Amino acid sequence: MPELGVNIDHVATVREARKTYEPDPVWAASLAELGGADGITVHLREDRRHIQDRDLRVLKETVTVKLNLELACAEDVLRIATEICPEQATLVPEKREEVTTEGGLDVVGNLESVQHAVQQLKNAGIVTSLFLDPDAAQIEAAAQLGVEAVELHTGQYALARGEDITEQLVALTTAARQIRESGMLLHAGHGLNYQNVKPIAQIPDMHELNIGHSIISRAVMVGMTEAVRDMKRLVE
Ligand code: PXP
Repeated sequence: MPELGVNIDHVATVREARKTYEPDPVWAASLAELGGADGITVHLREDRRHIQDRDLRVLKETVTVKLNLELACAEDVLRIATEICPEQATLVPEKREEVTTEGGLDVVGNLESVQHAVQQLKNAGIVTSLFLDPDAAQIEAAAQLGVEAVELHTGQYALARGEDITEQLVALTTAARQIRESGMLLHAGHGLNYQNVKPIAQIPDMHELNIGHSIISRAVMVGMTEAVRDMKRLVE
């Protein structure tokens, strides 16, 4: 059964809209745990548009399940990651102008910087995952770097309509097999919601799903604990 990592960035997005102290993502993380979250995921972006350094420090002290930090291959955030030492780090591409992470990491095209980041995280004893599109060459490069996990980008699947959904599922399932056969753990995320999560959760050996926007959207209406509990039921 896949683990559910709840991404709480958008709780901090609401707080940062007013540059105040509420709502606190730390509180949201506790409620997500009560709802059955197996992990808490946050993205410390270089522009600090939502999660702040303080959030990561306090979450490290308070989260009792897995803490997964998403970050770019950039010195500033890598230094913070290796100081705070979350249990897991997921390397993602980052562009200032994007609304959310748009594509997978280009490991092949940025081998040196990704290798440098992976090495720093590994030296700090942090389990390392790479966020990748379902692309054989990228997965092969990840395996060569010796990372523990690959998180497959499900954004294209989430956007697909009609027959394209099946095509995207075939691409994800094929990539998933390559990840498992290369001895890495299989994670997935981006754009997953209460309507589209089941086929992804059913991919053999799916180890972890990271879901943010749809859970936080429901939490606004029904509360965090219930929103996480509903998603956990679907994932199971
Ligand atoms: N996984 C990664 C690597 C991400 O960057 C994000 C978005 O922050 C997610 C999962 C969650 O995506 P969503 O908010 O669409 O559920």
